Amino acid sequence: MATNGQPAPRYAHIVGWGMAVPERVLTNLDLAAIVDTSDTWIQERTGIRERRIAGENETTASLGFQAARQALEVADMLPTQINMIIVATSTPEHIFPSTASLIQDWLGASWAGAFDLSAACTGFIYALNMAAQAIISGSMETALVIGAETMSRLLDWEDRGTCIIFGDGAGAVVLRASDIPGGVLSTVLRSDGSGFDLLHVSTVGSLDAHVPDAGLPRDGTRPTMHKMYMNGREVFRFATRVIKDSLLEAVEKAGLTLQDIDWIVPHQANQRIIDRAAKNLGIPSERFYSNLARYGNTSSASIPLALCEAVTEGHIQPNQTLALVGFGGGLTWGAMVLQWGVTAPQEPPTINRWRRKVVYSFARTRSRFQRTWRRLGRLIVRSPLRPLLRRLDRNRNRKQDGPSP
Ligand code: ACO
Repeated sequence: MATNGQPAPRYAHIVGWGMAVPERVLTNLDLAAIVDTSDTWIQERTGIRERRIAGENETTASLGFQAARQALEVADMLPTQINMIIVATSTPEHIFPSTASLIQDWLGASWAGAFDLSAACTGFIYALNMAAQAIISGSMETALVIGAETMSRLLDWEDRGTCIIFGDGAGAVVLRASDIPGGVLSTVLRSDGSGFDLLHVSTVGSLDAHVPDAGLPRDGTRPTMHKMYMNGREVFRFATRVIKDSLLEAVEKAGLTLQDIDWIVPHQANQRIIDRAAKNLGIPSERFYSNLARYGNTSSASIPLALCEAVTEGHIQPNQTLALVGFGGGLTWGAMVLQWGVTAPQEPPTINRWRRKVVYSFARTRSRFQRTWRRLGRLIVRSPLRPLLRRLDRNRNRKQDGPSP
C-alpha cells in the first residue's frame, strides 16, 4: 500500500531454511591416521571434533539441492514461485555453468534467474544481502540463497594446517517480500584484496595455470593448482579484528546496540576465533551460536548451516534480533543484522507437499527431454535429410507468401 504517494516500505524476511550434510563422518582420530596430528591438538586449537566429507556421488550442487528442497518445504512454497537463485560457493561444479543453474534445473524453478557468487567464507552474507536488496527495492518477490561447498575436494590432504579444519555441507534460505517490518535490517560488506595471498586456490585464469608444471608441488612442497593454501596465523589475527569491527558497524547501522542482539551466528572457522571475538566485544561466548565441533569449517555453507540448526533446535525465536558475521578469502568480511519474523510451520499441507514432488519429478523429465530434443536437433541438422527438410521449408514459405506477382 502507498502512503502519501510514497510506495509502502518493503522488507525481506527469511521464511524457509534447510541444510544438508554428507553422511560420511571424518573424526579427528581418522585424520590422525592420515597426517601428523592428534585429536587433542585439533580440539584444543580449533574446537572441531569431526566434519562431514562428500561421498562419491555427492557434489556441491547435490548438497545445495537437498538444502534448497528443505528450505522450500519450510517456506511451503513451490519452486516455480522463486524469482532468483544465488549459490555462494568456492567449490562450484564448473567454472560455468553456475552451480545455481544446475540447482534451478533440478528444482524445476522455471521462473528463476540463477548465478553463483564467489566471496569465500563471507559468500553467504554477500549473497543474502544481494537478494534482500533486490526484494526491498521491489525488483523481485522471492529468492533462494544457498551456501554449498565440497571443501574436501580442494584440500591438500598432506597439509595438516588446512585439512583438519574444513568439511562439506550446504545450507539454504528462502527470502520473501513482506510489508511487515523486520527481516534484513542492515549489512556491512568489505574486502581487502591485498590479502589475497593469505588464503587462496589458484585456477585456470591465474599465472599458475600457464607454468609447465602447473598443479605439481612448487619448491618440492605443495601443489599450486586447485588446492588450498592458507596462512592460518595471519587469517586468525585478521578474523578476530574484523568480527568485532563489522559487527559493531552493522549493529549501529541498524540503529541498535550490541545488547539488542539475541544471537550472533558467526562463520564457523575456529572456536578460539569466536571466543576471542566475544571477549573483544565484551559479551559472553554463549551468545555466539556454534556447531563447529560437528561440521568444521564449511566455508560459505557454515553460516546457513548454523542458522538452520539454531532455528530448528528452537534457540532462535520470533522477534529476536540476530547478527550474522563472516570472514575469509579475498580477504573479505561482512556482517548483517536481521529481525527473525517467523516460526517454522508445523507441517505444510499434504497437497502442497505433493505439488512440490510433482514439480521435482516433472523437472527431471523435462530436463532429460530438453537435452534429448537438442541432441535430436543437432542430429537432424547434420543428417542427409537436411537438404530435403530445407526444400520442404522453402515450399511451405512459398505457399504462405502466395503466388509471386
Ligand atoms: N596438528 C598438530 N600440530 C599442528 C597442526 C596440526 N594439525 N597444524 C599446525 N601444527 C603445528 C605447527 O606446525 C606449529 O608447530 P611449530 O610451533 O613447531 O612450528 C604449531 O602447531 C602452531 O602452529 P600455528 O599455525 O601457529 O597454529 P594455530 O594455533 O594458529 O592453529 C589454525 C592453526 C587452526 C589453522 C589457526 O591458525 C586458524 O584457525 N586460523 C584461521 C583459519 C580460518 O579461520 N580460516 C577461515 C577462512 S577459510 C576460507 O575463507 C575458505
